[in-house]
Amino acid sequence: MPRVKIAAGNWKMNGLGASTAELDAMIAGATGSAEVVICPPATLLASFAARAAETGVKIGAQDCHPAASGAHTGDISAEMIGDAGGSHVIVGHSERRADHAEDDATVRAKAEAAWRAGLVAIICVGETESQRDAGDTLGIVGRQLRGSVPAGATAANTVIAYEPVWAIGTGRTPTLAEIAEVHDFMRADLANRFGTEAADGIRLLYGGSVKPGNAAEIFAVSNVDGGLVGGASLKASDFLPIIAAAS
Ligand code: G3P
Repeated sequence: MPRVKIAAGNWKMNGLGASTAELDAMIAGATGSAEVVICPPATLLASFAARAAETGVKIGAQDCHPAASGAHTGDISAEMIGDAGGSHVIVGHSERRADHAEDDATVRAKAEAAWRAGLVAIICVGETESQRDAGDTLGIVGRQLRGSVPAGATAANTVIAYEPVWAIGTGRTPTLAEIAEVHDFMRADLANRFGTEAADGIRLLYGGSVKPGNAAEIFAVSNVDGGLVGGASLKASDFLPIIAAAS
């Protein structure tokens, strides 16, 4: 079965109540076949989910705690995300791996928490610039995939995002051949672990300086099933053409 492409927006630590106007414009303009997921900061999760209810646009969070509840000041659980109306959660973004020292085991626990709450886990992997320069890209991505993606991953509960750290917010992207190399490798690695059928259904997103001008060519690359977009997902005028490129 052909995989439906995803245009996912990671708003990171951006967005206030006034940003609702952008969400409304995205909802109104997202008319293509792509699955659209917008991940605002936690403060906007419930209001965005209420606005997007009954539309084709899905709302996700940017992180969750592995536990369902408890004494974890400042954290939110996957259950809370679901309760607020979210259907997805990003886990293992490189900014969280770096800023909060999250390792693969933590990311795996968060993905399992997402599943426990009935959410789709968008699990991020990707190499740093020095790792790429050292020729270790596939080694790193393979290690993160095996460490971060729990047993039991399916097309329904998991999306993987390949985000080279050096391409995030820099305006630099790998060549299309480099993206294809990593995505083909990830598909094969998932097939080894989960079997061809499950692996074939899991969507593999590319993230890192996706813009209206490069989205179509990146989304046409082998085994790229859409994008996880940061800066260019904040404004409808940027994100709508990217959604169209995934449709
Ligand atoms: O999660 C999306 C992201 O890290 C890419 O950010 O701003 O390069 O599109 P950006």
